[in-house]
Amino acid sequence: MKLQLEELRTKALAEIAEADSSQRIEELRIQFLGRKGAITSILRSVSQASAEDRPALGKAANLLKVELNDAIEARAAEFKVQERAGTARRDRPDISLPGRRPPTGHLHVITQVTEEIIDIFSELGFQVATGPEVETEYYNFDSLNTPADHPARDLHDTFFVKPGVVLRTHTSPVQMRVMEKTKPPVAVVVPGKVYRVDADATHSPMFFQIEGLLVDEGVSFADLKGTLMHFIHRLFGKDVQMRFRPHFFPFTEPSAELDILWTSTAPDGSTQSRWMEILGCGMVHPAVFKHAGYDYEKYTGFAFGLGVDRIAMVRHRISSITYLYENDVRFLEQF
Ligand code: DAH
Repeated sequence: MKLQLEELRTKALAEIAEADSSQRIEELRIQFLGRKGAITSILRSVSQASAEDRPALGKAANLLKVELNDAIEARAAEFKVQERAGTARRDRPDISLPGRRPPTGHLHVITQVTEEIIDIFSELGFQVATGPEVETEYYNFDSLNTPADHPARDLHDTFFVKPGVVLRTHTSPVQMRVMEKTKPPVAVVVPGKVYRVDADATHSPMFFQIEGLLVDEGVSFADLKGTLMHFIHRLFGKDVQMRFRPHFFPFTEPSAELDILWTSTAPDGSTQSRWMEILGCGMVHPAVFKHAGYDYEKYTGFAFGLGVDRIAMVRHRISSITYLYENDVRFLEQF
């Protein structure tokens, strides 16, 4: 019996030392100390030993029970510490991972297109000028040979701020502001916001124009056409289809509009082509030069006003002008 206890001790301690997980330790606890475990059955069999041996055996068995229990507890505690450290290690941030980049913004597609357009005219020697968005009727209309009964002054088109003062309906008033301050030759482009009472797929109540004005001796309609064709080719490539269409503007004579073939892609992927007017142009009317104080016998000039939104739409196949002003990041991110 003594020998049996000694063997059990050796075996149990070895197995406890070899245990590799808290689960294994629990199995050993049951195997040796459980109700049907090895120690329990030995203690039970002590009663069958001789009266003489019984006390010593009982004591030895109890001591072994305590010893094994201590060994198991010690190992269980070790595993607990290890496992807790393991969890902590898993939860700790991994500082070697590449960081997440914060989202960065970029220029709005309208600004990008405006800059592209200005770059092309800058190469040709045009300078950039600006003027006020709240404008007098004089600069917006009268000085541009647009008399008081002209349809463009209809309340339906123009936002009035107060009598005599409007939100400019085009960038053309800046032509006059520049000419008043500058002697010819003049070559300017004027980017800016303009306002009209209008809203559908190709019209927005606020939109962007770039005005152009070139005045010098001997400027002809051929110069106008050549300049604008160069511009369109630079912006859209040589393959673009364009057409000049005779038109009327009070401040130019003769006048034309320039259309280019616009293919748009709707969100459902379908495409559609149609001519889209992207600018108005013409030879500066002598009456305009008169207001500016320019000698209209000596100087001629051409002017144009182009719609930046329309150009952005053609350029990027955008199906509605409203996308440009909804500030939906999913849309804006594409440019
Ligand atoms: N101001 C005109 C508009 O907004 C566009 C325009 C046409 C501007 C002819 C010009 C021009 O300078 O010569 O519809």
